[in-house]
Amino acid sequence: NKHEIAVIPGDGIGVEVMPEGLRALDAACRKFNIDLTLNHYDFASCDYYLKHGQMMPDNWFDTLVKQDAIFFGAVGMPKLVPDHISLWGSLIQFRKRFDQYVNLRPVKLIPGVPSPLANRKPGDIDFYVVRENTEGEYSNAGGIMFEGTDREFAIQETIMTRVGVDRILKFAFELANKRPKKHLTSATKSNGISITMPYWDKRVENMSKDYPEILVDKFHIDILTAFFVLRPHHFDVVVGSNLFGDILSDLGPACTGTIGIAPSGNINPEGIYPSLFEPVHGSAPDIAGKGIANPIGQIWSAAMMLEHLGHVEASTAIVNAFEKVLAAGPDHAPLTPDMGGKGTTTDFGKVIAEAI
Ligand code: NAI
Ligand code: MG
Repeated sequence: NKHEIAVIPGDGIGVEVMPEGLRALDAACRKFNIDLTLNHYDFASCDYYLKHGQMMPDNWFDTLVKQDAIFFGAVGMPKLVPDHISLWGSLIQFRKRFDQYVNLRPVKLIPGVPSPLANRKPGDIDFYVVRENTEGEYSNAGGIMFEGTDREFAIQETIMTRVGVDRILKFAFELANKRPKKHLTSATKSNGISITMPYWDKRVENMSKDYPEILVDKFHIDILTAFFVLRPHHFDVVVGSNLFGDILSDLGPACTGTIGIAPSGNINPEGIYPSLFEPVHGSAPDIAGKGIANPIGQIWSAAMMLEHLGHVEASTAIVNAFEKVLAAGPDHAPLTPDMGGKGTTTDFGKVIAEAI
């Protein structure tokens, strides 16, 4: 029942929602007698970069690899540090070096949160986006040639390894197999991207033979995004490459009202390395410092972390608590402005912790 957790708030609203994530975590752990040691780190933030010229200390790997999980806020200060430097110097290092090849992102319409989609009621939208998290389009292989001349060009490779594709598909098929609908949707673009995407499709087809009871369909990413909006009830488990999964997992939560509630797990399923739990959203510079960020993405990520550590009851207690508070609606609970309320991050976080 003892776990060591690395706590990394990062930048912007990451610093504001993290205390509410910890408040919920603390309430759930006290209730269920779970002993967490929290180790706080200020690196993997742009503040750290501005002081030290790098996003993380040289020994970050050894420091974090010993922990049971990493609880992360958000990183990025685009006005001061280019996004590719801040993201590649922190989060993407964690995902790659800790082999967190599954990025699991639930999408659920929760009573009390107004959906921008007309005529959608809770129950209509309840699915998972499973994103490949270590290769694909986010490969960093390539370069800019003949820079500054009129022959200048930029090239960046997509890398799909058989091991990499099969292991994410396996995770998605297994997840679909555990759900009542047993329905897997694959995101592709094999009409335009003529090598890697047909390869992805072939691996899906190959694995589907091992799961005859699962209904498998695939859509090109362009129409798939349209169907997220037009037919969200169609989906159960949606699997996509690094880029497609990234796009779908912002769109999915947006269809359920706000990206501010969406959680994610960056998971190393074998448990060889620590997994990382963070909200889907970024550091939101446009609202940072105002105290109005929605803390649910962080709080729900805490629930996913507890589930991953084997504490299903404590995890459920957190989800039930914020669902109960949300159901009261913006007139009766201090919901944040993105959900139509007037509450602050802290007010709302406190009410949820009390409900736990
Ligand atoms: P973003 O997710 O930070 O913000 C997009 C929009 O959603 C903004 O209008 C923001 O105010 C709103 N929003 C986000 N989270 C919210 C919350 N909890 N409550 C209420 N409203 C919320 O994405 P953006 O603007 O593209 O990126 C900003 C910075 O964050 C960049 O530096 C980017 O690289 C970084 N980023 C970091 C991520 C991470 O740490 N995992 C993920 C995505 C972006
Ligand atoms: Mg994203």
